[in-house]
Amino acid sequence: MKPVKVGICGLGTVGCGTFNVLQRNGDEISRRAGRNIVVAQVGARRENPNADTRGIDITADIFAVATNPEIDIVVELIGGYDVARKLVLTAIENGKHVVTANKALIAVHGNEIFEAAQKNNVIVAFEAAVAGGIPIIKAIREGLAGNQINWLAGIINGTGNFIMSEMREKGRDFADVLAEAQALGYAEADPTFDVEGIDAAHKLTILASIAFGIPLQFDKAYTEGISAITQDDVTYADELGYRIKHLGISRRTDAGVELRVHPTLIPKQLLLANVEGVMNAVMVDGDAVGQTLYYGAGAGAEPTASAVVADVIDVVRMLVSEQGHRVPHLAFQPSELSDLPVLPV
Ligand code: HSE
Repeated sequence: MKPVKVGICGLGTVGCGTFNVLQRNGDEISRRAGRNIVVAQVGARRENPNADTRGIDITADIFAVATNPEIDIVVELIGGYDVARKLVLTAIENGKHVVTANKALIAVHGNEIFEAAQKNNVIVAFEAAVAGGIPIIKAIREGLAGNQINWLAGIINGTGNFIMSEMREKGRDFADVLAEAQALGYAEADPTFDVEGIDAAHKLTILASIAFGIPLQFDKAYTEGISAITQDDVTYADELGYRIKHLGISRRTDAGVELRVHPTLIPKQLLLANVEGVMNAVMVDGDAVGQTLYYGAGAGAEPTASAVVADVIDVVRMLVSEQGHRVPHLAFQPSELSDLPVLPV
């Protein structure tokens, strides 16, 4: 049987991680998926020493990947809003399934993208967009599908949590730790997205959309970051028995859904207070299951690649299992939406 051909657009931190995981675990991944999966093309302006792409077709023109008739799945890892939007819409219009780690893209342009995907009968999968390697999208969409979700709350920006942890544990300077997070490939291209809460708000918007069946409404999220937190704040919180954690919180009430991202004082003995470094954790409260907690690396090359590759496998499983049959949990279907409003905070 013909292999499934993947085109990776972007060869930065996550692009390299995804390429390397697909190459290293290729046999096992293909066995699990039920078809051979090959990286047939990479769209990147330049090669990256962290990925051995010898023998791979590399083009500087990412749109050549999105329109390549040979490619079945386009993996969008370039990040950002506008070019990524155009790339993903081009891939969809060309009948490609799309896997993306781009939370900004999904939070801001997701409604348009999912509508286009539905029209063209393709999947847009985005597990890696939230909480890095934690399979939180699948947990909410699949594992908790029988519940009415009451609320969710989590540490969903690894860079911010890394900064807060290092400030508290080692008394390090904010700017110094941020520079380290950038060097480690945790931070966004524009790190103000991390420290001003914008990245967390993107992710919360996506989680709330899935948990509560509402359209993506990033502009309605209350967004506050960690940039105003000082070493004194961290020390005083500690003396009073608290840790300061930057949380994304979404709660369902009779009137609608709250969406908010801000620093929060959490009693030290609670699990969320003890999530340190680049780790993320998301608590989800469902009416049937009660409280559940999901924990793991929230950023970094291979943790994020883990989620990207899982989505690639899901798409291939769908291609194997059907012909023409869609696995419903992979794409957010516009037809599933409820009209629950997002409340002003
Ligand atoms: N900058 C993001 C973070 C990357 O630190 O969480 C993962 O989405």
